[in-house]
Amino acid sequence: MKQRVTIIGATSGIGRALTVEMHERGYVVGATGRRLERLEELRNQLKTNIHIQYMDVAELDDAINQLDQLKKDMGGLDIIVLNAGVSNYQKESVGRQADLHVIDVNVRGFANLASYSFNLFEEQGYGHIVGISSVASLFGWGLNIPYNASKSFVNTYLQGYRQKANHSDADISVSTILPGFVESEMTDGKKDLFWVQETEKAAKQIADAIERKKNEAFITKRWQLVGWLVKMTPNWIWNRM
Ligand SMILES: NC(=O)c1ccc[n+]([C@@H]2O[C@H](COP(=O)([O-])OP(=O)(O)OC[C@H]3O[C@@H](n4cnc5c(N)ncnc54)[C@H](OP(=O)(O)O)[C@@H]3O)[C@@H](O)[C@H]2O)c1
Repeated sequence: MKQRVTIIGATSGIGRALTVEMHERGYVVGATGRRLERLEELRNQLKTNIHIQYMDVAELDDAINQLDQLKKDMGGLDIIVLNAGVSNYQKESVGRQADLHVIDVNVRGFANLASYSFNLFEEQGYGHIVGISSVASLFGWGLNIPYNASKSFVNTYLQGYRQKANHSDADISVSTILPGFVESEMTDGKKDLFWVQETEKAAKQIADAIERKKNEAFITKRWQLVGWLVKMTPNWIWNRM
């Protein structure tokens, strides 16, 4: 039987490319997002083995009902990719409300679906949770404070669930994906970026990491170097950068 994967946040960038990639690899795909016309476009493009569902992850109870509906339409759920995310890199908007919006989507919206999916997978006896974090999760950064902190939450949250999965009778995998810069609406028009990966190439590497059930994967691999560099930088230097 074909495996069923739902991608949360499939209307643009990484999520959209990953939906197309997983579909090409023979999965039945579920695509969600707020921009329904984009979801309809995707369904028209892929034609078969695709199910779409409107979802705003910040509307917590509605998001659960919508995931349930999508799961019914797809005849079950084997893999969930928690990809929806927002950023305010380079001061698009700053202040309390801007910070809280990032936290509502990237932390509360994320945890709501991750926690629900884990329970669902425990009940059914198997499943795979994939969280799209970021290299930004590895350090605090004055130009994008809530974003980096929100992605750090994703790492720790999933690490906890990975440990819990190891103590569970169910066969549950938990993968944390850490992309560096990738072409998408999030990075569009931003200056000073480097090693920017094409969206489709990033999606292929993420799909490979999912199929290998990797605990953790940097996209691309060389971003791990940045991770090491950050770990080795003393706080007093970091605070002055
Ligand atoms: N691009 C990069 O360089 C980069 C690097 C590291 C990590 N990431 C992570 O990769 C993920 C995808 O980002 P991207 O770069 O592909 O950016 P993007 O093109 O802006 O895509 C963001 C996706 O998230 C969805 N989304 C945003 N707010 C949502 C909400 N409230 N409810 C439901 N869906 C929502 C969007 O769908 P709708 O607007 O239609 O709802 C869209 O499908 C994010 O988690 C991001 O943090 C990106």
